[in-house]
Amino acid sequence: QEDVFKKIVSHCKEYGFVFPSSEIYDGLGAVYDYGQLGVELKNNIKKYWWDSMTLLHENVVGIDSAIFMHPTIWKASGHVDAFNDPLIDNKDSKKRYRADVLIEEYLARIDEKIDKEVEKAARRFGESFDETMFRQTNPRVLENQKRRDEVHARFAKALNDGNLEELRQIIVDCEIACPISGTRNWTEVRQFNLMFATEMGSTADGAMKVYLRPETAQGIFVNFLNVQKTGRMKIPFGIAQIGKAFRNEIVARQFIFRMREFEQMEMQFFVAPGTELQWFEYWKQERLKWHKALGFGDENYQYHDHDKLAHYANAATDIEFRMPFGFKEVEGIHSRTDFDLSQHEKYSGKKMQYFDPELNTSYVPYVVETSIGVDRMFLSVISSAYCEEQLEGGETRVVLKIPAALAPVKLAVLPLVKKDGLPEKATEIMNALKFSFACQYDEKDSIGRRYRRQDAIGTPYCVTIDHQTLADNTVTVRDRDTMEQKRVTIDEIEKEISLKTDI
Ligand code: GAP
Repeated sequence: QEDVFKKIVSHCKEYGFVFPSSEIYDGLGAVYDYGQLGVELKNNIKKYWWDSMTLLHENVVGIDSAIFMHPTIWKASGHVDAFNDPLIDNKDSKKRYRADVLIEEYLARIDEKIDKEVEKAARRFGESFDETMFRQTNPRVLENQKRRDEVHARFAKALNDGNLEELRQIIVDCEIACPISGTRNWTEVRQFNLMFATEMGSTADGAMKVYLRPETAQGIFVNFLNVQKTGRMKIPFGIAQIGKAFRNEIVARQFIFRMREFEQMEMQFFVAPGTELQWFEYWKQERLKWHKALGFGDENYQYHDHDKLAHYANAATDIEFRMPFGFKEVEGIHSRTDFDLSQHEKYSGKKMQYFDPELNTSYVPYVVETSIGVDRMFLSVISSAYCEEQLEGGETRVVLKIPAALAPVKLAVLPLVKKDGLPEKATEIMNALKFSFACQYDEKDSIGRRYRRQDAIGTPYCVTIDHQTLADNTVTVRDRDTMEQKRVTIDEIEKEISLKTDI
């Protein structure tokens, strides 16, 4: 799986999907640029989300708020005081870790030990092996399970109490039994705020410290009444937004999975108090349907309900997708109560109430939020689409089976040879179609190599212009996934392809 992931990362670079940022200066940690095909795929993902939110739900409208916002917003939202990661350094290896992530790794190590024990026994006993019985009775499994439960309970309590010294002590204790860093010389655990700060205005006038937003959601909360009043919106209604967010992530690994500059697609749904859990359930189902409609296989998704909730939430779940490195969060759905709007009411001194004509009363609405990372969605699309296929004759092909609606190029227009008027005819076809969908013209190399190139970038259809085209105005259309070809008339191409590639 590691290998496949490495191949996907290098494929993304080789074909112009994703480049490391500032590459000629040796890159910048956890920052990436999208190339000529990456930007198209990303735009298509955003359109798929935007249309499903704003066109398919009459009561959801969009906004585009600024990245810079008044700094008090981040005080009110809790980000200044509580948007922290607990960090710890190993004094010998000089490596820095997120304390909570490190403890989760220790827990995973203990799980691995248990699994190994079970696998060993399963091999030894063969058919007659009773795994449940073994787990309940084997002394080594029981001992490890007990240790795991103890560490887990201490960890949950330390997180809950914000007890940094105890987090450190858990790491010290775990390192003895299950070494990860190899040494026991740790610093204190300290809280590190993830927001990037900068200054607005010249220092002479007393510059104001501002933050790069760590989520797009707050731009929606502070515009709630603007949109509600000017759009004459009635509760329940939603506001959607797509935009950049910034977090000074410490453990920035796994390519575009965890970045310092990334993009979010968020929607806040404003509801009457008391109805929020119903709407939470609705959006939970609705969002999973959206993911599954892409056809990557229902078995690759799971919910992860949070049992430990943030103080402002009364329900939360993640939609996890099977990435090459395991099931990982792609989207969060949170019932955030009236926390954010009430906080803004308190800090700004402005009313954040809605007059409900049906209930004939005013209240601060409750909010159900759906929040998905564009880059994580991109990674899930690319990693599910990436296939290496063995063809007849021993040849292999790399093909990106990107759903046609998301593919960066929908149609490749290919003259069979570079003579006999075929390029001219192909250009004519290209010029007629390029207003309807993204087409790419290619006349270089043999037709087989050109098909491979289109497979590698995920183009769902190729039309080939051959000598017969000049005689009867027909072309062949090749399907990326089946590699089957059929003949259609030039007039039919547009309808045929639009039908299959429209978002
Ligand atoms: N407004 C709620 C919020 O921001 P979150 O769980 O912190 O919630 C929501 O983030 C989504 O944003 C995540 O599910 C993930 O897809 C994406 N995301 C968060 N941090 C990210 C990062 N450092 N790099 C890429 N995507 C990230």
